[in-house]
Amino acid sequence: MQRVRYIEFSKFREERHNLSLLEEGMHIPFPIRRIFYIYDIPGGETRGGHANRANTEVVIALSGSFDIHLSDGRETRSFTLNRSNIGLLVPPGLWVVMDNFTTGTVVLCLCSTPYDEKDYIRDLATFQQECACGLLNNPTPLSSR
Ligand code: TYD
Repeated sequence: MQRVRYIEFSKFREERHNLSLLEEGMHIPFPIRRIFYIYDIPGGETRGGHANRANTEVVIALSGSFDIHLSDGRETRSFTLNRSNIGLLVPPGLWVVMDNFTTGTVVLCLCSTPYDEKDYIRDLATFQQECACGLLNNPTPLSSR
């Protein structure tokens, strides 16, 4: 069972810069089928507001910082991402909201599936209904992940 967790990537401190790396199989527990990134985010903006039925993501603050709130329909847990060498593993079946972005934040998302709009639930009421009916793949309470 995949669980929400931070993933620490390799980091090399060089004389005048840092270098971090992530490798499929070593740091990322799924084949990476898609990468997207979010940038030029206005202050006060909220992103996300959706759940994925099948896609697993690793979300990284490549630059800057932001908060990410995950709900399984029963409870919500919040995480802060503010280090370039730390990612958050987000399994499917969770409502995802991101906010509190600092200026210049760049969010990198590594995905386990190609883009498919049918994989998205963008309506909170539908998400809550599917959770209540046990239709989403999140049988483990968020608190024990
Ligand atoms: P969306 O998921 O709504 O972004 P956010 O979570 O930041 O609000 O995506 C914005 C637009 O980009 C939407 O029209 C769908 C499109 N999109 C793709 O075509 N492919 C992708 O992999 C992603 C993530 C989004």
